[in-house]
Amino acid sequence: MNNFKFSKEELKQIEKIKQRYLDKNSLLLPVLWMIQEKEGWISEEAMAYVGELLEIPYSTVLGVASFYTMFNKKPKGKYHLQVCTNVSCMLRGAYEIFQYLSKKLGIKNNEITADGLFSLEEVECLGSCATSPVIQVNNKEYYENLTKEKIDELIEKFRTHLVEKEF
Ligand code: FES
Repeated sequence: MNNFKFSKEELKQIEKIKQRYLDKNSLLLPVLWMIQEKEGWISEEAMAYVGELLEIPYSTVLGVASFYTMFNKKPKGKYHLQVCTNVSCMLRGAYEIFQYLSKKLGIKNNEITADGLFSLEEVECLGSCATSPVIQVNNKEYYENLTKEKIDELIEKFRTHLVEKEF
């Protein structure tokens, strides 16, 4: 059963976005992003809904959603932590950071904590190599030049919901 639906306002927003594109396939990225903003992830049901809505085959929607790592295909924690382990970050201790976070939170790659507060994911270059090692939180905030001490501080702030970027 398909439970995902856009609201009337969201459908109006999609109509507006449509006017910017000649090809309906180009609409997929912004519309998939809207789903992620609304739900925190993109379920197969939501992909099927979007396929029907935009008259695009499900296989195309699935292909696009799967290609981009920015789209979450599984539910994520309230704080989704993406740790870059690409070359620059790796050379500056990204794997130690990843292992440290994994142990601290008690979850492995692509898992979510039992309380739903955190999820962890290893990702490719986040485009901030000069300030490695880097993590991205909820596809928005970057935390750079990380150390285990900074991780401790950050996790504590998230746990107490006192998140203000200070480093
Ligand atoms: S290698 Fe990590 S941000 Fe580029």
